[in-house]
Amino acid sequence: MTTSIPVDVPDALAASYSKSQGAAGRAWVAALPGLAAGFLDRWALRRDGPARHGMASLVLPVIRADGTGAVLRLQRPTEENAGVVTGLRVWNGDGVVRLLDHDPDTGTTLLERLDASRPLSSVPDDGEALRILAGLLARLVAVPAPGGLRRLADVAAAMLDQTPGAVPALRDPAERRLVRTCASAVAELVGEPGDRLLHWDLHYDNVLAGRREPWLAIDPEPLAGDPGFDLLPALDNRWEEVVATGDVPRAVLRRFDVLTEALALDRRRATGWTLGRVLQNALWDIQDGETALHPAQVAIATALLDGQTRRGAGPRA
Ligand SMILES: Nc1ncnc2c1ncn2[C@@H]1O[C@H](COP(=O)(O)OP(=O)(O)O)[C@@H](O)[C@H]1O
Ligand SMILES: [Mg+2]
Repeated sequence: MTTSIPVDVPDALAASYSKSQGAAGRAWVAALPGLAAGFLDRWALRRDGPARHGMASLVLPVIRADGTGAVLRLQRPTEENAGVVTGLRVWNGDGVVRLLDHDPDTGTTLLERLDASRPLSSVPDDGEALRILAGLLARLVAVPAPGGLRRLADVAAAMLDQTPGAVPALRDPAERRLVRTCASAVAELVGEPGDRLLHWDLHYDNVLAGRREPWLAIDPEPLAGDPGFDLLPALDNRWEEVVATGDVPRAVLRRFDVLTEALALDRRRATGWTLGRVLQNALWDIQDGETALHPAQVAIATALLDGQTRRGAGPRA
């Protein structure tokens, strides 16, 4: 079966690949329509509505030969997304989109269709959205990681290796100190990197309304590690709403409380691994040529460090 609707690559997706992966990204985008057409044919799929996309993947709503809806998802394979199929198989649809088929050579997946018009970001109340996200995240990270996934232990060790060479690129001495503090926190925890199956990118646009469950996670980049490393995407999304509260540290700590309570995490460890996530973002930004940190990253790290000093390791006030 073939489709007559040509596969157009959205400009924003093409631009994202060109920016992040240069010539190799442009070549992958150029080949994408042919790749998509090949899978539509091979898996006997009919197009069913306009394409969706994020920064990394093209997602085509399709109808399978048996008449059920699904989506065909194409993404250039990277180290980060190498564990998608392993993760989706282990979670087996529990709190997360179901995997229907996949191609190991290209990383292409056929997924259960969810309601793309209703991401969790469309829930107006930030507190309610966060509680839903926290509930899903708690279920996902309760699962032990299978073998063969990339490991936080290795990710953390590589970050610690890179930090001394990267930090001088930051213009502001306070930011250089902050990144070194994040690295010290990671150095303290690197010996206990955890062994849970992490999603790594659970923000509000990576949760969609479903039928068999009200909300389901999509777009995991699985790794094995400590659940504390999974909190940052829920802390820095809808950032304008954090700023609009007029008390950024308080709003950050409130989000952190909701997440650590839902996941029953030790706050010190969760703080340390969240600082690790700030470190990871900082290193990527520096690699991309940035000379300053994102204000949200600075604000989150500062709020957690100050919160830790104020509260100490004891029970919360
Ligand atoms: N299972 C699905 N059902 C319906 N729409 C989906 C599904 N998976 C992804 N989408 C749509 O495609 C977009 C991009 O998919 P996503 O997996 O988040 O890729 P990216 O890594 O590019 O963010 C989503 O924001 C959503 O609009
Ligand atoms: Mg996404």
